[in-house]
Amino acid sequence: MLDALKQLIGDRELDLSGARMFRAPGRINLMGDHTDYNGGLVLPAAIDYETRVLCVPDNRVLLRSLDVDGLVDLDPGKARVAGGTWGTYISGVLAELSDLGRRAQGLTGVIDSTVPVGRGLSSSAALEVSFALAACAVADFCLTPMELAEACRRAEERVAGVQCGIMDQAVAMVAKEGTATLLDCQTLEFEQVPIPNWMSVVAIDSGIERSLAGSSYNRRRRECEEALSALQSFMPHVTNLSDIKLSDLDEALSYLDELHGRRLHHVVTENARVRQMADLLIIGKDAPDAEFEEAIGQIFASSQMSLVEEYEAGHPNTNKLVEIAADTEGCLGARQTGAGWGGSVVLLARSDDARRISRTICDAYLEATGKTARALVCTPAQGASEISDFMNQAKPTKGGSE
Ligand code: GLA
Repeated sequence: MLDALKQLIGDRELDLSGARMFRAPGRINLMGDHTDYNGGLVLPAAIDYETRVLCVPDNRVLLRSLDVDGLVDLDPGKARVAGGTWGTYISGVLAELSDLGRRAQGLTGVIDSTVPVGRGLSSSAALEVSFALAACAVADFCLTPMELAEACRRAEERVAGVQCGIMDQAVAMVAKEGTATLLDCQTLEFEQVPIPNWMSVVAIDSGIERSLAGSSYNRRRRECEEALSALQSFMPHVTNLSDIKLSDLDEALSYLDELHGRRLHHVVTENARVRQMADLLIIGKDAPDAEFEEAIGQIFASSQMSLVEEYEAGHPNTNKLVEIAADTEGCLGARQTGAGWGGSVVLLARSDDARRISRTICDAYLEATGKTARALVCTPAQGASEISDFMNQAKPTKGGSE
């Protein structure tokens, strides 16, 4: 990355000794999808696939990506949306930070990423957060981790038109190595839940790219808002769908039509599954017994069923992948992860078995669909940070990939 930065600087007089590097990870969500924008619970982990930004202060914003084409060249004072999709995220982050009072300091830098794009592993949040850290650092601008995550979430809404929740940006900021983050998206309070050492978290990319801007994501969000406003006529204390507990679900459903009822049913039961899953991770910290394995399998299966049937966020290929995984000996549980409508599946397995199981699943998937799946055995990673000794490790880690 250093050579690429030197090349980008060319013969301009920028001081390379002031170069700094920042990183932000992608994420995999163990449990709790489509709950974040409904004020609910999520249980994601950061993964060891990440985006890095190496930069020096400058009077303009000049960025090159080492993975995708396009050069972003912006005036830091008037961050207009630049050409190329990744450039729009950069300009969105700049605009949000400037609204929060960041001074118009530029930077020249290069960006490198190992987060698969469009696979439900939050490549856009990793880009936004790593760049936001760099932009704040060069301007000596301080935000709390959640303020920075919120700014990046708003940037995504602003430039990509996706009314996403806070999960991806928040976990990219606050995750801790070896843990999943149990986040309450209403209060933004969180705690880290250790992932047992014997357990591996695997992302299996179905090979079906999805773009949230082109998916039903915003429509679902609107349906949830409609459900909320219908409920509020009968249950005025309810401020978001996650205020409805399992014990109130039947009553709440009686006030809604069939479609809105199904959306609500997913959100309420998914919140309950997040709590159960967090509890199970703690109980299972030593070797798993049969009862534990069965409980995990059931929670994953009911989340998958709810996402596909109640929330209609499935895709024939990810449905197939989950079906194959669930039938594979040694897979503890599998479900689609992230927004859905394609992308990746998360599965849990014993660490000593994870690679074998992943290969078996990918082979069966190829035979069934003709599509190639890619398994990423992930190590739960640390949230975003500055890399101070980057001179010694200028290449992003790729994590464990099959
Ligand atoms: C996307 C969004 C998140 C979240 C998930 C679904 O990843 O960016 O905010 O809503 O979908 O859980």
